[in-house]
Amino acid sequence: MKALRVLLMLYSVGGCYFSTSFQKRSKFYSDPTEAVKDIPNGATVLVGGFGLCGIPENLINSLLKTGVKSLTAVSNNAGVDNFGLGLLLQTKQIKRMISSYVGENAEFERQYLAGELEVELTPQGTLAERIRAGGAGIPAFFTATGYGTLIQQGGSPIKYRKDGTIEIPSEPREVREFNGRHYIMEKAITGDFALIKAWKADKAGNIVFRKTARNFNQPMCKAAKVTIVEVEEVVDVGTFATEDIHIPSIYVHKVVQGGSYEKRIEVLKGGIIQAEKPKPKKDSDIVRERIIRRAALEFEDGMYANLGIGIPMLASNFIKQDITVHLQSENGILGLVRVILIVHLHVVLVLTGKETVTVLPGAAYFSSDESFAMIRGGHVNLTMLGAMQVSKHGDLANWMIPGKMVKGMGGAMDLVASAGTKVVVTMEHSAKGGKHKILDKCSLPLTGKQCVDRIITEKAVFDVDQTKGLTLIEIWEGLTPEDIKACTGTEFEVSPNLKPMQQI
Ligand SMILES: *[C@@H]1O[C@H](CO)[C@@H](O)[C@H](O)[C@H]1NC(C)=O
Repeated sequence: MKALRVLLMLYSVGGCYFSTSFQKRSKFYSDPTEAVKDIPNGATVLVGGFGLCGIPENLINSLLKTGVKSLTAVSNNAGVDNFGLGLLLQTKQIKRMISSYVGENAEFERQYLAGELEVELTPQGTLAERIRAGGAGIPAFFTATGYGTLIQQGGSPIKYRKDGTIEIPSEPREVREFNGRHYIMEKAITGDFALIKAWKADKAGNIVFRKTARNFNQPMCKAAKVTIVEVEEVVDVGTFATEDIHIPSIYVHKVVQGGSYEKRIEVLKGGIIQAEKPKPKKDSDIVRERIIRRAALEFEDGMYANLGIGIPMLASNFIKQDITVHLQSENGILGLVRVILIVHLHVVLVLTGKETVTVLPGAAYFSSDESFAMIRGGHVNLTMLGAMQVSKHGDLANWMIPGKMVKGMGGAMDLVASAGTKVVVTMEHSAKGGKHKILDKCSLPLTGKQCVDRIITEKAVFDVDQTKGLTLIEIWEGLTPEDIKACTGTEFEVSPNLKPMQQI
């Protein structure tokens, strides 16, 4: 009898076969409040979701009812003022957030700057991997992400005092060199509880996610002592093909069938793309279009590319009809026809033609830890993103202006730290008032050190040698290298093959 039970347990670990004598590990609830009522004050809670996609909304709402306090919430984002974790911020139930991007939430900003809330900003890929490592029993790991930035140096504000000085600074990270590159040590994250949103559970507690909602939910399932999953539907055992199960029941302790779901989409400011050819009106539009039409020439057939919001995404509208570019993105794309809304998703998109972008057959959905394995592992050919400053050796600053609200670095630090990925910066040549953006040394906090390979502005294109410096390779018609010198804050070489700036 004993032997038989052991055997059945092993089967269940594989998520394969069940017998009627199998004792269910997962408990099923109809009331989400019942499922979360054991969460005590001071608990660390991992909360799944990306932006407003795939967040455990019923479980979060139930914490409003239990009134639990002093939570440490590990979540990529902080919701918006009236939805998701934003609700628990309003009721001041959260003491500390560990997140990569916390923009879009005014109450969050107020509490943080007033010293009422602790915030540990963590690069997105590092956050996903810290959680993955936590679930896999790995106490720490080394990553190139954040080397040479505030993340490594420490001292960035986790908590302010009322007078605006720093009460809790972030800790510096240990640096090690492997094969001639620098890496920093990041520690695993585990939770007392994980609050997860999935699509369906079977009655044995196996889980599947819907489309892009896998995001942080998948690694978080594995990294908590108690994993509580809310699902839209509970189905009979055997409904899922065994090989299609995303999370085996071994990781799942409680399952709640949620009630209604709001399908919210976060529309980012400036995130609306006009797939139509932009009609330049103002000088700034002309400048943007010039950069976009040059940036589009960076795409090559068969390439995998990750594009930042704004000019890089807009450049994808100009990709030639006869080439296919695979977009690897935290920003999925929804809807076609003229206006494309950018939502927070993880998705591989295949992009064809000029005016329509959609998820085509052959695309794949994956989780956040997987997304950043692709990025960190150097599998993405091209990263294109904006910048506030770039130095002659390719240091990049694009995430923080001290003294102003810091929204977080999102995935930018991970993207630029990837060896083997070409990093192209698209930006206006100078800041407002003519301040230089291309400099000897960046004055703003870095996103990455010696990471940029090419700079495209409305006036020029530079190649960056991360030890030797800049070379001017293209120049806008009518301008001379002397004109470029006058508006650039550092020296550069002029290529013997200097060309007029190319446009698609
Ligand atoms: C993309 O990168 C892979 C290696 O990761 C390489 O084999 C491939 O040729 C690259 N493709 C393009 C179009 O650059």
